[in-house]
Amino acid sequence: MTTVVVGGSASGEIGPNLARALKAEYFRIEKKDFPDGEFVVKVPFDARGKDVVIVQSTYAPQDRHIMELIFIADALKDMHAKSITAVVPYLAYMRQDKRFLNGQVVSAHMIMRLLNASGIGRLVTVQPHKEKPLRLFRGRADSIMPIETLMGRVSRDLSDPYVLAPDIGGLELAKKAARILGCGYTHLDKERDRITGIPRIKNKPHERFDGKQVVIVDDMISTGTTIMLASKFAYSRGATEVVTAAVHLVMADGARHKLLQAGVTRVYGTNTIPAKNSVIVDVSGEIARAFGKKAGRSRKS
Ligand code: R5P
Repeated sequence: MTTVVVGGSASGEIGPNLARALKAEYFRIEKKDFPDGEFVVKVPFDARGKDVVIVQSTYAPQDRHIMELIFIADALKDMHAKSITAVVPYLAYMRQDKRFLNGQVVSAHMIMRLLNASGIGRLVTVQPHKEKPLRLFRGRADSIMPIETLMGRVSRDLSDPYVLAPDIGGLELAKKAARILGCGYTHLDKERDRITGIPRIKNKPHERFDGKQVVIVDDMISTGTTIMLASKFAYSRGATEVVTAAVHLVMADGARHKLLQAGVTRVYGTNTIPAKNSVIVDVSGEIARAFGKKAGRSRKS
């Protein structure tokens, strides 16, 4: 089998690292920008009859990165690649997975339809906000949960941790994190105003964290408001230190400042999105393992 990995402009080190792990040849996509903001991609190898793995994350500017991904896939289809797999470490638009307000688009579904139309036959992504939208993808879809790698790194720095999920949606992640760290866990109950987008804590657990280093875990940090609220809560219940570990460090403008203000001493994340001033772990190894797994099993990894 001839597998070739091609990295898009938003693939970072995951492209070459994955190619090494799969013992595949690696190419970087050629991209030419036009003065009006449009661009064209060129696949720099003969893809005919090859199993091609595209690596392209879809962090900001999300739309350009998504367009680049589907352009590469379409070019590969035209070149008669034998198979096209898309490794999308951060898959954008997954939070809008239902119609929260009348008239809204269900963006996560539309993204799946786009991927289907572009000729991608298999999708591998890392910790999507929810698994359900992946069901609309027509081919095999795997999601990687890099919690072992992330917590493995966190555990090196903490002696007396306690895991806190900022909302009920993060409970499964918190349970796994606590198991790996060998400590207790609890969760907050958060609700988000669907008009303003601002979250607030609805119900608080009874636990105290006296003398503990609280690890707030989440799938992503976007504006930082969720982690800020959780950090303030942890300190109000006696935590000596608060750190946060999230798979995707989206870190929209102002997020870093909010975390600092709320006393978060360290931010841990993965390289699905480039991030500064954070402790970053590489997820390429976990992605590579998905290629050795049978369909349906890697979702639980
Ligand atoms: C939402 O349910 C997610 O799991 C995150 O908690 C959320 O996206 C974080 O957003 P922000 O950093 O803007 O509060």
